[in-house]
Amino acid sequence: MSLKERYGPWALLVGGSEGIGEHIARKLAKDGINIILVARKPEALAATAQILRDESGVEVRTIQLDISRDDMLERIQEVTDGLEVGLLLHNVGGAKGFGPFVDCKLDHVMAAVRNNPIALTKLAHHFGGAMAKRGRGGILMIGSIAGNAGGYYLASYSAAKAWNQILMEALWAEMQPRGVDVLAIPIGAANTPARIRSGTIDDDQMNVVSPEEVAQQALDQLPHGPVYVLPEHRDFFDSLNTPQRRESAEAQRDLLLKMLPSAQAKV
Ligand SMILES: NC(=O)c1ccc[n+]([C@@H]2O[C@H](COP(=O)([O-])OP(=O)(O)OC[C@H]3O[C@@H](n4cnc5c(N)ncnc54)[C@H](OP(=O)(O)O)[C@@H]3O)[C@@H](O)[C@H]2O)c1
Repeated sequence: MSLKERYGPWALLVGGSEGIGEHIARKLAKDGINIILVARKPEALAATAQILRDESGVEVRTIQLDISRDDMLERIQEVTDGLEVGLLLHNVGGAKGFGPFVDCKLDHVMAAVRNNPIALTKLAHHFGGAMAKRGRGGILMIGSIAGNAGGYYLASYSAAKAWNQILMEALWAEMQPRGVDVLAIPIGAANTPARIRSGTIDDDQMNVVSPEEVAQQALDQLPHGPVYVLPEHRDFFDSLNTPQRRESAEAQRDLLLKMLPSAQAKV
């Protein structure tokens, strides 16, 4: 079956304007799937929409929206109601910098929660419900290996990504018999525009992959959920998924301190 037969005619890509989301959009569009892109920055949204139209001639709609808003689902439904959305992608990180949990502004701590558990739960419930009724579709979540152990200076982000991953695992088991593929891809480091802008890419400390590679593997593995870890990131994933939770938390702390020398000064 082609991607279009399996996941068409429309795909909703939340976090689809750049990086991994953009590359997934381009691959889906080349297969003839119409695309709805959601992101905050209008310029990147418009530019990616134009690339999709030029490359593939598919229909593209854009929604400029911060998904941390309480009315995010209603705003998305204003565009998607009446369209058959066969694929949902969640590709939003949403961490607002690094820092000790209790010293961060509550609003910053909550951003990761709103952008991940709350948004993904609402989206998966709404769009997944329609897919289950139709007996086909897919839900894909780009996660983080940080969601597999408490993230030092990234507490709410790592906890939020843990929720996302566990939700995907549960939905995979429930939705597979109903014809819906569900996959989480927890990644270690990818040189996406956002990550490059954050200044935290360190090739010596981590196996950095390209957004295009993540996109290709995500679509290849979508029928084989619930969780897929890129070969480049398996050692890191395995090192955190141990019953020795103190070691996992310490490993995350040590990595963060190496990655962010300024964090060391604050300890
Ligand atoms: N890059 C890495 O090294 C890395 C490592 C581990 C996990 N991940 C995961 O990989 C995914 C992609 O990350 P990324 O590095 O590309 O960064 P990102 O900042 O999450 O950006 C990805 C996309 O999401 C959009 N976006 C971000 N916040 C949004 C919001 N509040 N509302 C609506 N759209 C929003 C961005 O566009 P706008 O900014 O215009 O909104 C962009 O299109 C995330 O799930 C992240 O957790 C990335």
